Amino acid sequence: MNPRVIVVTSGKGGVGKTTTTSNISVALAKAGHRVVAVDADIGLRNLDVMMGLENRVVYNFIDVLEGTCRLNQALVRDKRVDNLFLLPAAQTRTKDAVNPEQMEQLCALLRREFDFILLDSPAGIEGGFKNAAIGADEAIVLTTPEVPSVRDADRIIGLLESMGKAPIRLVINRLRSKMVSEGEMLDVRDVLDVLAIDLLGIVPEDDSVVKSANRGEPLAFGDEAPAAKAFTRIAARIMGEDVPFPEFKDEQGKGFFAGIRKLFGMKE
Ligand SMILES: Nc1ncnc2c1ncn2[C@@H]1O[C@H](COP(=O)(O)OP(=O)(O)OP(=O)(O)O)[C@@H](O)[C@H]1O
Ligand SMILES: [Mg+2]
Repeated sequence: MNPRVIVVTSGKGGVGKTTTTSNISVALAKAGHRVVAVDADIGLRNLDVMMGLENRVVYNFIDVLEGTCRLNQALVRDKRVDNLFLLPAAQTRTKDAVNPEQMEQLCALLRREFDFILLDSPAGIEGGFKNAAIGADEAIVLTTPEVPSVRDADRIIGLLESMGKAPIRLVINRLRSKMVSEGEMLDVRDVLDVLAIDLLGIVPEDDSVVKSANRGEPLAFGDEAPAAKAFTRIAARIMGEDVPFPEFKDEQGKGFFAGIRKLFGMKE
């Protein structure tokens, strides 16, 4: 299998990139792939904390790029799954400590070692975003179901398209609604018809996400929590499986996708 480099990004901050990166990485690793989660959020690193690996961090990827250490010295092996690794960001450096060419170099290095390379990027469209995206083949764009977040996602999608990333797929996070029944499946083609990009998954608002982040134990290690199930489905779709989308309904029993159609001003 060809290695795949996937950047996890968003227009708006705080929408769940780091949560998603850690959980998808765990789910892909549980499926047997060699996975590295790269913290490309220089200066604000927290992927190590969410993965519960912060005490094992010695070097970071800037050390690798500057030749201070070798790649395998900077990689932190997960405590629970031995084919999952973290490549930490530097905490005491600024985003301009690396340039796009170096990031491409780093991705090339990682391609030799891993099946999946997931890059957790900083929010926004500044240099940090470009650095994180430059070496990636594909992109996952995160948004919450609020209009400002969707608008910002749209801008990021435009940028990713101009950079030639493909596929670019959307994850809608923190959907506050009752999932009425998983038996009621929505036709994926219908969704694709509505959104300009491919929908990769929908993650519900789930208190256990916060608890698991505090424990440093990504939810996807288990399979009980609704968000864990959603991340596992997303990982399966990344692996090419055709996983149906459960319909999510709001408190009035209205389908979520009807709301999305309105949001995009499209036909119902
Ligand atoms: N599905 C969810 N349900 C409940 N809480 C969530 C969910 N997804 C994320 N959160 C919470 O939202 C907060 C922000 O998440 P996260 O740090 O992953 O976002 P981010 O996009 O990486 O932020 P930043 O732009 O600052 O890097 C965290 O406290 C996280 O626990
Ligand atoms: Mg983050």
